[in-house]
Amino acid sequence: MTQVKHNDVVQAEGIPVYTLAHLSDPHLTSLDDVKMRELLNKRLLGYLSWRSHRREEHRAEVLQALVNDLREIQPDHTVITGDMTHVGLPQECREVSAWLSSLSDARCLTVIPGNHDAYVAAPWGKTMGLWTSYMASDTAASLTRDALFPALRERGPLALIGLSSASPTPPFFATGRLGVAQLAALERLLQETGARGRIRVLLIHHPPMKHAIGWRKRLTDGDALCGIIAKHGVEMVLHGHTHRSVMDKLQTDSGEAPVIGVPSASGIGLKPGKRAQYHLYHFYDGPWGRRLRISVRGYDVEEERFVAQGTRQSSLPAE
Ligand SMILES: [Fe+2]
Repeated sequence: MTQVKHNDVVQAEGIPVYTLAHLSDPHLTSLDDVKMRELLNKRLLGYLSWRSHRREEHRAEVLQALVNDLREIQPDHTVITGDMTHVGLPQECREVSAWLSSLSDARCLTVIPGNHDAYVAAPWGKTMGLWTSYMASDTAASLTRDALFPALRERGPLALIGLSSASPTPPFFATGRLGVAQLAALERLLQETGARGRIRVLLIHHPPMKHAIGWRKRLTDGDALCGIIAKHGVEMVLHGHTHRSVMDKLQTDSGEAPVIGVPSASGIGLKPGKRAQYHLYHFYDGPWGRRLRISVRGYDVEEERFVAQGTRQSSLPAE
């Protein structure tokens, strides 16, 4: 594997100009010490779900093996597309905060929230707000919850655009919503970064398209998002939420943009297709245009480590 250990764009045939790692849904916290009084709402359902099967599926040793693999490969940047916690409790968010800082500094790591992180309405500053340095725009004028997204973080040739589809939902629902204000700001951001020729990578927890997930778990304003993408273009969309591998496409004015989801980063794989994987996206640039090579790395139960599980070539929409 070619390693690129700096953020400068290297214009050379055969060498990726930038390598981005994508993992999702680590659900890295434990609810072992949770107090019953903290579960007097929808969180009780989440806790029971964790007790009955999620704690068997999401394993700390799998996530640690992924972290060890990342440390060896040293991608230029890593993105995590949400669901760091199980029920978004303040102590879970503190645990995530410590884990994030042990993984990387905010220059090389970008995070967006998922529906589990916004399980019920909770004080922002004591929950997801603790991860602000990993989520906020490079030039954020305001770090309030409402002003944070969409967030623009420019790294190498990439414009990483983080969205938040995480909002509390009624019991038995795991839908997401972006809202009118976030969509309007996204339109402006896509235009502005597109005009500057950046490789725009959209990060969102919920998959944008309806067919990717069941009705109870859908992005409720996904059609509006797809309309904006079709109009203003994007080079790539990365998501989580499905806990399964997804390789999809969205039509834009300048060509098809890949829409990619990864399984949970901590999944031991009790159900087929749910064992942990993460992706490395190697971006190439040259006279033949922009190219993308995707390396899939997955957890090997026998070897207790992540191993190469194939590569895919893909084109990116033309500039
Ligand atoms: Fe999840």
